[in-house]
Amino acid sequence: MNRSNPVGIFDSGMGGLTVANAVKKVLPNEQIVYFGDSAHLPYGDKSAATIQAYSVKICDVLLQQGCKVILIACNSASAAAYDLVKAYVGSKALVLNVIDPVVQYIAEHHAGQKVGLIGTKQTVGSEVYDTKLKAKNIGVELNSLATPLLVPMIEEGFHKNEISDQIIKQYLEKPELQNIEALILGCTHYPLIKKQVSALLGEHLEVIDSSLIVAAALKELLQANQLLSEKAEATDKFLVSDFTPSFQTAAELFFQKKIRLEKHVLWE
Ligand code: DGL
Repeated sequence: MNRSNPVGIFDSGMGGLTVANAVKKVLPNEQIVYFGDSAHLPYGDKSAATIQAYSVKICDVLLQQGCKVILIACNSASAAAYDLVKAYVGSKALVLNVIDPVVQYIAEHHAGQKVGLIGTKQTVGSEVYDTKLKAKNIGVELNSLATPLLVPMIEEGFHKNEISDQIIKQYLEKPELQNIEALILGCTHYPLIKKQVSALLGEHLEVIDSSLIVAAALKELLQANQLLSEKAEATDKFLVSDFTPSFQTAAELFFQKKIRLEKHVLWE
């Protein structure tokens, strides 16, 4: 592993580009290799075994690219495949998921409180946030709600209008999310609706966008391992397992910049 090697980031599709975007803001000297598994999305409704099989294949690609660290940007894959990926990658690269940094943040800022979580069916059903928060023993009561309509809604560009307001409101009014003191946005896509969620919930409640927390955790991890890149050398790569014009549009929506997607099939 070398400090000038790239940072690998993967997701089920384009949503993880919100995390890649945060990484570029916090670590502008790092070259990133992003892999969006657009041929197999969404992961949020898939079984853990299927997500694990895809994740391991993606790790092979990122290791071939020489990545010094693999960041699992997808919440569903972080929930289903982190332990397996870590064991699979071994000492070839560092591995980070998007859940542990948020659990640590909750421990530092919301101990003893009632906290809400929204995410895909896979993330919520895995109860991984519950397990990790319980292990911290900080008296957090976690109330989770699967919100499967939000991913397709955001991908279709409905994230700043009355229709999306109504859908988000319906979810936020569910009994699970009442009297909470913070809400975790446990999905790659949700940073795009953070403002709407905050406006609906009110200023008193912290809406936790994991992308920035994860980017800061990545910086700490690289620093601790003396792997921070000192200068920007190579250009970023954005690989996708399937290409359509709508993935290109989505990529620009989530990364907030024009990028060139390169097709890289996972299975021949
Ligand atoms: N990337 C997924 C996540 O963060 C959302 C999209 C999907 O279901 O694939 O859980």
